[in-house]
Amino acid sequence: MKKRLGILTGGGDAPGLNAVIRAVVLTAKQRYGWDVIGIRQGYDGLLFPETPIIDLTPERVRPILSRGGTILGAVNRGNPFVQIMEKPDGSIEEIDRTFDAVARLDSLDLHALIVAGGDGTMAIAQRLLELGARIVGVPKTIDNDLAQTDVTFGFDTAILTATEALDKLQTTAESHRRVMVMEVMGRNSGWIALTTGIAGGADVILIPEIPFDLDVVCDHLRENRTPERSHSLVVVAEGAAPIGGQQEYYIKGSGLMDARLGGIGYTLGNSIEEKTGYDVRVLRLGHLQRGGAPTPHDRWLATRFGVAAVHLAAQEQWGKMVALQGSSIVAVPMSEAMKMKHVDPQDEAVQVARDLGISFGEK
Ligand code: F6P
Repeated sequence: MKKRLGILTGGGDAPGLNAVIRAVVLTAKQRYGWDVIGIRQGYDGLLFPETPIIDLTPERVRPILSRGGTILGAVNRGNPFVQIMEKPDGSIEEIDRTFDAVARLDSLDLHALIVAGGDGTMAIAQRLLELGARIVGVPKTIDNDLAQTDVTFGFDTAILTATEALDKLQTTAESHRRVMVMEVMGRNSGWIALTTGIAGGADVILIPEIPFDLDVVCDHLRENRTPERSHSLVVVAEGAAPIGGQQEYYIKGSGLMDARLGGIGYTLGNSIEEKTGYDVRVLRLGHLQRGGAPTPHDRWLATRFGVAAVHLAAQEQWGKMVALQGSSIVAVPMSEAMKMKHVDPQDEAVQVARDLGISFGEK
């Protein structure tokens, strides 16, 4: 009987997901003669039978290579199988529906399920694997913070958007002799901030891995001002925090709503203005970094990942995830991939920034 693959995209979207879907469908059909179905809205598609399953034909996916987002939809929240309900008395009840998801997966009669996602998506996949599901993984995140893969697709597109934004901030900063603070994404890792800051010529880069001292930041901004250059650019990662301080959340989170990291840019901007007297403006770049068409690099990487994932399914390598190591696509255990990849303060790229005179606000 003809085999069938399923694919879902979990967590936050990332440019390149559609390229993965396309590569999976074309490889499944051309190389193995298999069909592919798409499960919509991430793992939610396994929980709610009313969520339509879509047939992914080569004709349907051919045009999506350059499209951002994911045609399957994605859901970004803690554990999708734990449903949090508010009871009439206002208390919160948690209902574990993992077994419903497994039953739904069984009923779809798939040879394998391919999940494209970040650490959260892989953690859920692990749980399903333990219950007998046949799953292979494709790593995805604009944050580039997954261990085991040198790069994730989506990152290149995000840093292109962020660098272009910084270039634009630079020209207006120059005209008005202002300090521009740009807050970028990245959760608890500073890859987007570090790369964008170097590529866009920032004076200061603040990342979660190096807690900063506000006085050092302000002194550096003062010292960097010359009669020829009287503006400054500061790139701050959403997860950065001062020495001894806490990360900021613009939504604190509650039983029904996940906490949302970010807001440090505004606090930092206000503090810099107060301490230096410079005119400061702040941009929180936000979800622009996740939108838009994937760069050629991200299409290339996503396509290689999609093709390799189908080969893993053909080899029945359950629990494996594709990854880029050096210039090769390899298979790694999904359990290893859930570990995070942080910026090492001694990393060569951090040293490069220091050598250029960029400050990390270190004492
Ligand atoms: O992990 C990707 C990411 O874009 C982070 O950089 C950011 O903190 C988070 O997702 C935002 O998630 P949401 O789309 O749920 O607001």
